[in-house]
Amino acid sequence: TGVLILWAISGYLLGSIPFGMVLARAMGLGNLREIGSGNIGATNVLRTGNKRAALATLLLDGVKGAAAVLLARCAAGEDAAQLAGLAAFLGHCYPVWLGFRGGKGVATFLGLLLALAWPVGIACCATWAAAAAITRMSSFAAITAAASSTIWMLLLGHGHAVILGAVLTLLVFWRHRGNIRRIRAGTEPKIGQK
Ligand code: G3P
Repeated sequence: TGVLILWAISGYLLGSIPFGMVLARAMGLGNLREIGSGNIGATNVLRTGNKRAALATLLLDGVKGAAAVLLARCAAGEDAAQLAGLAAFLGHCYPVWLGFRGGKGVATFLGLLLALAWPVGIACCATWAAAAAITRMSSFAAITAAASSTIWMLLLGHGHAVILGAVLTLLVFWRHRGNIRRIRAGTEPKIGQK
């Protein structure tokens, strides 16, 4: 258990790096809290109008989830990898550095899935892309991709991760509760819109 706790803490610390906020500040794009949804993720960085910063945020927030999984797997095996992935996701959503007010975890979710079970990760990315292409709403794509994750795990032979998938799905929905309210009200902005 000591080893597992160590990897959970490492995953959390990796996940808690708020790349969107750091990049936006470093590139002079302003305070993300005062832009769009106020969220620290790539979708909101895009609302600054800087596509490269948004892409970098997406990639870095994804890589930290993947890194948490891969490091823990190398050092301590599959259970540690799942735990570290979950911890990275929680770190992104509830970072100690930002008073536990973090992001919605979508990029980190996709990154950790790609590292944990890459066919599932690719299927979830494709689900995100398809839902985004149809609805033009990042949040709608996110909850669709999250909801699809357990199904892809079962279909693609990664049933060992299905509990993690279910927990992550619930957390993604919880973090998007404001977005879900706006989707239902028809007021959720399209990708790139302020
Ligand atoms: O990844 C977060 C995305 O799903 C929604 O972001 O800024 O539109 O609330 P935002």
